Amino acid sequence: MRKKIVAGNWKMNTIVREGVALAAAVNTELKNIDLPENVKVIIAPPFTHIAFVEQVTDENKVTVAGQNCATEEEGAYTGEVAAKMLKGLGCSSVIIGHSERRTYYGETSEILVKKVYTALKNDLMPIFCCGEKLEERESNKHFEVVESQISEALFHLSKEDFSKIVIAYEPVWAIGTGVTASKEQAEEMHAFIRKTVSSHYGKETADNLTILYGGSVKPANAKEIFSMPNVDGGLIGGASLKADSFIDIVKAVL
Ligand code: PGA
Repeated sequence: MRKKIVAGNWKMNTIVREGVALAAAVNTELKNIDLPENVKVIIAPPFTHIAFVEQVTDENKVTVAGQNCATEEEGAYTGEVAAKMLKGLGCSSVIIGHSERRTYYGETSEILVKKVYTALKNDLMPIFCCGEKLEERESNKHFEVVESQISEALFHLSKEDFSKIVIAYEPVWAIGTGVTASKEQAEEMHAFIRKTVSSHYGKETADNLTILYGGSVKPANAKEIFSMPNVDGGLIGGASLKADSFIDIVKAVL
């Protein structure tokens, strides 16, 4: 059975005190939920919070992810945070290639190849983000765009390494806008991603791949999106900043 994941991406929000309270509240709520073996909950706080958040979360309930990592292993790269450092803090995964990183920080597929490599080398599960912009969907290029994002950054991996990746489909026009992709639009793209992966790595690898949907997921729409056969959970931005709404979204995947 493939893994289902609900991951909260806090982005650049909260100060440590607030983040610790949020993580502790999420952890407490999760103690009352019997999570099946194949369901994982992840939170991705800002780097500055990770060490503190680790202290108030139980690994068997919620694991911690970085929102990004450096391309390089270590050395003279002022201001960067290495995958190895995230691992050293207890993180088990890292978000790579979020559209905000691609748009505001110029992250290209070439850069993402290196990030995926260093994440895997340090035993972090990459949550690799892809997704088209509004004008790309409007000009009917969305499949092409997502296919190249995935093939350029991931298809150099061996089958074994690829099987450690999670993909998050996040249409850029749905992120933080309140506009969600319809469940049909999400399903159509997720099925396309699985097919693309299947033609490169084979059916078994594709069937085992967890594909998350992201973009304005809220408690009110989570259940219908997660009910689609190729949607294996979500990457949640805004709604992960309140324990109640995040937990309601976790419940929607069960
Ligand atoms: P959103 O963000 O839920 O606030 O739209 C999702 C994301 O960017 O991962």
